[in-house]
Amino acid sequence: MDKFRIQGGRPLEGEIAISGAKNSALPALAACLLTSDPVKLTRIPPVRDIRTMEQLLEHAGASIARDAGSMTVQAGKLDRPEAPYELVKTMRASSLVLGPLVARTGRARVSMPGGCAIGARPINLHVSALEQLGATIRQSHGYVEAEAPDGLKGTLVQFDRITVTGTEDVLMAAVLAQGETVIHNAAREPEVQDLAVLLNKMGARIEGAGSSTIRVHGVGRLHGAEHTIIADRIEAGTFLIAGAMTHGDLVIADCVPEHLDALVSKLKQAGAEVRQVRPGALGVRSKGRWRAADITTEEYPGFATDLQAQYLAMMTLAEGISFVTETIFENRFMHTQELARMGANIRVEGRQAIVAGVRELTGAQVLASDLRASASLVLAGLVAQGETIVDRVYHIDRGYEKIEEKLARVGARIERVS
Ligand code: EPZ
Repeated sequence: MDKFRIQGGRPLEGEIAISGAKNSALPALAACLLTSDPVKLTRIPPVRDIRTMEQLLEHAGASIARDAGSMTVQAGKLDRPEAPYELVKTMRASSLVLGPLVARTGRARVSMPGGCAIGARPINLHVSALEQLGATIRQSHGYVEAEAPDGLKGTLVQFDRITVTGTEDVLMAAVLAQGETVIHNAAREPEVQDLAVLLNKMGARIEGAGSSTIRVHGVGRLHGAEHTIIADRIEAGTFLIAGAMTHGDLVIADCVPEHLDALVSKLKQAGAEVRQVRPGALGVRSKGRWRAADITTEEYPGFATDLQAQYLAMMTLAEGISFVTETIFENRFMHTQELARMGANIRVEGRQAIVAGVRELTGAQVLASDLRASASLVLAGLVAQGETIVDRVYHIDRGYEKIEEKLARVGARIERVS
């Protein structure tokens, strides 16, 4: 099992290029199931979750051609509209195939995702939204079985709470439903907007993506298209924090700066200098000890829950006490116990972590528990005194493309060891 060995204390200097967004590529790949024509997607990040999604598409009957940096998916005939447990258990975002399979074939059998380290993560909102569109859904033997033999019918879909992949699932189902669908309390994430751009290129008629009300006029069929995935704002945010924490002088290139507004304002509040150095590129510098600054995670455009663990790592060395409140997931502080082993002073009370800044962290052997917690341990290792070994880095490989190579290229002393 791979580990990272990190020697702390080196400032990051230079330029890091951001990859395509995993959380945009996953729904985009699922959207390919909606047409029998080929769909060409560029800037798909070669991370583990993408490979899982590829296996799901091929299992359903799609064929995939790959060339440098792009992928062409053709779901000509879907003779097995299902997502099996052995794949779904490794990636809960597999539920993204539920909507497209029902819309395209009239049926779907998708294993229910188990919980994961950060929370129960049910898909009840996905199921109820598809039922509102007319699908008959039953749950048995750990599978969700959906049927819509006469097709789906447009309607008003009201989400009790904002769900990113729930919005994406129902959006992909609604594009082929008869009549109009209005989605209320929709997620506004850039990845939802990117999916709508792709679907409209495929012939869908969607308005309002990116706002909390999305309107969809159903069409008879979708056709092929070509689309480039947006930059990964969470990868970009992770490296922005790394640049600030290491007192470096780092440029994050090929990103979408406006997707990072919540993080950038917090980094400035903490005393880091962040500026747009050219279109699509943010520069970060920091001198001296940064100040404590509180965050509360919220749905986009609020502070992203996927950047909470990384930001908390930075606050462990801040001057003062910071309050980190996690409102999206019920158990997303697994990184705090590992950070404490490096000398951090953190107390977790329910949904809030109270972080008292210390002068230094010391390198230690630490264990990754989930994708973003692993990233926070790498960041801590970059600034800790001495050597840090991060174990179970397969978690980080789910969502970051060669993170150790990107960091080493800007001065970090980090290597992958097995
Ligand atoms: C997406 O997960 C992302 N994954 C997550 O990124 C991200 O943390 C999350 O959105 C929040 O931004 C992908 O896009 C593939 P939700 P998702 O449905 O859609 C509850 C990463 O690190 N809920 O918006 O699964 C849920 O338990 C990953 O890249 C229900 O109760 O998140 C959570 O508490 C981690 N019932 C809240 O809603 C449902 O049917 C928000 O979850 C669905 C969700």
